[in-house]
Amino acid sequence: MITQVSETVSVTVDGRAVQVRPGTLVLDAATEAGVHIPIYCAHSKMDPVAVCRMCLVEIEKLPKLMPACATVVTPDMVIHTASEKVVKVREGVLEFLLENHPLDCPVCDRGGECDLQDFAFRYGPTTSRFPIVDKVHSDKAVKLSELIELDRERCILCWRCVRYYDEITGEQELVLDRRGVDTVIATFANRELTSAFQGNLPEVCPVGALTHRQYRFKARPWDLQRSSGVCPECSYGCNIHVDTRNFEVVRFASRDNPSVDDMWLCDRGRYSATSWNGGARISSSHIRKGGSVAVVPCSEALEQAAAAIARVTAKHGADAIGVLVSPRLTNEELWLAQLLGREVIGTQHVDVGAAFASGAQPGDSGLALEDIEACSDVVVVGTEPEAYSPVLTLRLFKAARKHGVRVRRVAWGNGESAGVLTREVLAGLADGRDGSPVRVGVVAAESDAGAARDLRDALLAKGHSASILSVVHGVNGRGARDLGLVDGGAPGYAGGQGHGNPGGTGSPVSRMTLVDQVLAGGLKGLLVLDGAGLPLAADVTAALAPRLRKLDFMLAIESVSGIFSDSASILIPGHAYFEKGGTVTSSEGRVQRIRPALPSSGDTPRELLLLQKLATLLGATWEQMDEIAVFRRLADRIPAYAAAGYGGRTRWMS
Ligand code: SF4
Ligand code: SF4
Ligand code: FES
Repeated sequence: MITQVSETVSVTVDGRAVQVRPGTLVLDAATEAGVHIPIYCAHSKMDPVAVCRMCLVEIEKLPKLMPACATVVTPDMVIHTASEKVVKVREGVLEFLLENHPLDCPVCDRGGECDLQDFAFRYGPTTSRFPIVDKVHSDKAVKLSELIELDRERCILCWRCVRYYDEITGEQELVLDRRGVDTVIATFANRELTSAFQGNLPEVCPVGALTHRQYRFKARPWDLQRSSGVCPECSYGCNIHVDTRNFEVVRFASRDNPSVDDMWLCDRGRYSATSWNGGARISSSHIRKGGSVAVVPCSEALEQAAAAIARVTAKHGADAIGVLVSPRLTNEELWLAQLLGREVIGTQHVDVGAAFASGAQPGDSGLALEDIEACSDVVVVGTEPEAYSPVLTLRLFKAARKHGVRVRRVAWGNGESAGVLTREVLAGLADGRDGSPVRVGVVAAESDAGAARDLRDALLAKGHSASILSVVHGVNGRGARDLGLVDGGAPGYAGGQGHGNPGGTGSPVSRMTLVDQVLAGGLKGLLVLDGAGLPLAADVTAALAPRLRKLDFMLAIESVSGIFSDSASILIPGHAYFEKGGTVTSSEGRVQRIRPALPSSGDTPRELLLLQKLATLLGATWEQMDEIAVFRRLADRIPAYAAAGYGGRTRWMS
């Protein structure tokens, strides 16, 4: 006999019928029905514990009120979230929570975005039976680390912060100390927090008990202007809200994208927010001749640049000119920069200046971040991927804890061969298994991409399913490779971009980058966009400066001072990352939009327009395009980008 298992369950929430999957929590069924249930201890990324009792609801045929956050629906369940009983209990819970609360909302950083404030207003009693003078006071402004401060009077003991460490990072740095009414949140053995992810705590805390020391008393939520962005610190692609006040970035807040960051940021990314303020911004266009520097209009600087390009091309050929770009530029800027270099100037030297970029291959972004959880095994080659993109560690921890994925970290470097690595991994896979095919993810830094490819191919040859995530440098490092911003390359890996490495396997090829060619004295002219964003080692920077001054000309479009602006014969003010709109592509190949969070600091046209004006001066007949029109053009030429659109992943034909 075949038993049919229903795929949905019918429930009614406050008279609204809704179909949900079996196993759904009452809380989620209510959300599905458009009914709000207040919660404190429940959190969408953590297991239910039902300790705060804020979400109690009445369920017909059950004798007691039930916690919506920990009760699973059953067929034809009838739920009431605003019955007399529920309203009374909620008022009681809030009255107790506020009994000893300091009521310091006017000076609390969370005032205006606090669930205690909001729920007290919406669901709380109009008066309290406890006199204000009887409040029990506790420690305020307890410094847990250089980054996080705890106010014990505001804590409602929801346990979220402790569970965050248990379930999300696995580090267990916070504990519930003491017993009963004396219970407080404390660090383990009174040690400072050391986690690289502690900046998530104030967002996990539903009230103002845990706050960012960097942001204390800086702004109220209604003072802030918020825009959607992507963290600029690495190529993981974490989604952020960029909160600004008075034309300065004051904080980054997480913007949950379950496919990418799962709502977590690392501290390096989160606390880089204020580094975008100030700095030695370049405010006017300059032309340098001999020892003198003249301030000129931007239009004149562009005309001079066009004349210099024509002069050098006529004398030495177009290949004497290089176009050097940073991996912080948007895809749209990269696209126009490579068109300008290759099709207007006619040089093949268009480059993102990163070692190993020339060996990039489309399959390097084959493993999606969320697919890590669907693998049976994940091999992380070396420590660089997690050191560079720390939120990857949280994804790996979740995969292991929640989905039983075997995460293996294998040492790499010091001359080991890819063959040794492969044998070790294959032996590990055979260990304790029946030999049936498994799905394996291989995560490696781009410098180890060759070993990762060898490993993938060996796994495929054994009948397993395997794919790679190669972690590149720069927030848009993947975009630069996809769009062919490598010397001698072409957009979309056309013609087997991996110079000398067309077979798709083997060691990555580290050809001379454009920076190497400048160092070797092989160029006469240079166009640089955002040179300050190039990942240059200190010794390279030191060696580069004198070589740059020997060029016949250098046009630098820079937002802040650095070696390129200091040596440029023609300098035009550029725009910072948060002054731009467009798209950036993360290591896993996700094409994500960024929007300007700040107005331009000066009146110079944005880089997209500067590139178009320069192309026009050089004889091109480009129509004027904004970033959306440019994205359409590049998507027309690269099908993987057309398929990805905004927010999707590129999928390359092998
Ligand atoms: S500090 Fe915040 S997150 Fe931690 S238990 Fe108290 S209220 Fe909850
Ligand atoms: S992992 Fe990278 S993208 Fe994500 S928050 Fe950290 S630095 Fe930013
Ligand atoms: S949110 Fe359900 S008991 Fe706390």
